Amino acid sequence: MVAIEHPRFTAYPFSLGVASGSPLPTGVVLWTRLAPEPLDGGGLGSDAIVVHWEVADDEGFTRVVRQGSVEALASRAHSVHVEADGLAPDRAYFYRFMAGSEVSAVGRTRTAPPADSAPARLRFAFASCQHFEQGFYAAHRHLAAEELDLMLFLGDYIYEGPGRTDQVPGRPRAVRRHAGGEARTLRDYRNRHAQYKTDPDLQRLHAAVPWLVTWDDHEVDNNYAGTRSESLDPDFRRRRAAAYQAYFEHMPLRERARPTASGMILRSRHDFGRLARFHLLDARQRRTPQACPRAGRGGADWIDRQCRALRAPRRTMLGPAQERWLADGLRGAADRWNFIGEATLMARALRPVDGQLKVSSDAWDGYPAARDRLLASIADAGLGSCVVLSGDAHTTFVCDLKRDFDDAGAPPVATEVCGTSITSRGRAQSVTDAIVRANPHIHYGDSARRGYVAVDVSAGRCIATLRVLDDPLDPQSGIATAATFAIEAGQPGARPAAPAAV
Ligand SMILES: [Fe+2]
Repeated sequence: MVAIEHPRFTAYPFSLGVASGSPLPTGVVLWTRLAPEPLDGGGLGSDAIVVHWEVADDEGFTRVVRQGSVEALASRAHSVHVEADGLAPDRAYFYRFMAGSEVSAVGRTRTAPPADSAPARLRFAFASCQHFEQGFYAAHRHLAAEELDLMLFLGDYIYEGPGRTDQVPGRPRAVRRHAGGEARTLRDYRNRHAQYKTDPDLQRLHAAVPWLVTWDDHEVDNNYAGTRSESLDPDFRRRRAAAYQAYFEHMPLRERARPTASGMILRSRHDFGRLARFHLLDARQRRTPQACPRAGRGGADWIDRQCRALRAPRRTMLGPAQERWLADGLRGAADRWNFIGEATLMARALRPVDGQLKVSSDAWDGYPAARDRLLASIADAGLGSCVVLSGDAHTTFVCDLKRDFDDAGAPPVATEVCGTSITSRGRAQSVTDAIVRANPHIHYGDSARRGYVAVDVSAGRCIATLRVLDDPLDPQSGIATAATFAIEAGQPGARPAAPAAV
């Protein structure tokens, strides 16, 4: 089939903006999708359409350094993933796309420093859980102004649920509504991703900085595990494949992540010179189903920590291949910061419920043997400067990660900062306070506020700044710093720090 070189569109085709991701020293992924009718399947037919791209030194594109053209295919929802190469390391570039007579917004991206260099500093942020109905994306507008080298998104980029038509008494109103019912088909997931990407502040952040991404459950279905859904849907494999396809189509991912019949390789490793290494984990696709579910159900719950099935040594969060891949990536990187980005809380978080201590079967507490193996691989690699970045809980937690959480004197082997949500509602602060009291290795817990975490890294220390919105229901909300924690190189564990102490 011949791709259309001079298409005529019914409406502006670059309605979802532009994005970049997965930066290397000499290249970066550039993304866009043609979608003149974003909430209705995109609005294009089955023909391929030629898309031209340019990378320039300057925002006015007077010095174009790379350019080319690709075919946007209907089988990929007319998305394009350009792996631009031949760029210089450690510098900003501008990029844009053209189709027919239409031109996209201009994006700004940045290549990684040379592999053997020793950058003086790195500034990145991480976030998760951006329920479209539960708030506006003021956080993304503030993130775009943070002058970041990298942005990490750690899951729940979309939520699959139906548009809310009810208003629950006593709960905040939905500020906007998902289009359509619960996402189940490829068309549904495409429309849902497209709706999220119509948000101008989300577009602004994608256009401002390269992203690294991983997913959690809501990119597919609440609390799914591997090929098992919460409702034990017999057709879940097909639904999951549709959701993975739409996820790939809407993220600035490399071709290696393109879904195949056996799934999708989302895990990825990224070096920032010899200052930092990022490991992005996929903790959904290959995990063992949650232990001790209620009768006749899959999915997650707060379960008794004594539940026998929980302790089975073969339970896995990542799958054996990814566990080996992570251990290999940690080995030989003891001379730098290692940041492990993944979706759910890794630290043990006992929750007192009616005089019992329960754990979440969906987080790493539901996979204690897998957590032991992961923490052992950090210790075995001799890493003194390893930080786990997580989300999912709609709560900020700052934690020490220990081989034995029951031993108050055991030294931490790594630090965890779990970020709050961009918009998704959190649990009652009284529950979080009870968790903090019951877990001496958790130093901070805040489920009342929405926002993100900005991280400043230098060779000697890492500073995590907890940024919280004044009001997630206000698209113009201001932002403030709730707290700042320092992690010293070679000394796992976080302690409160004075702001701007890098
Ligand atoms: Fe979430």
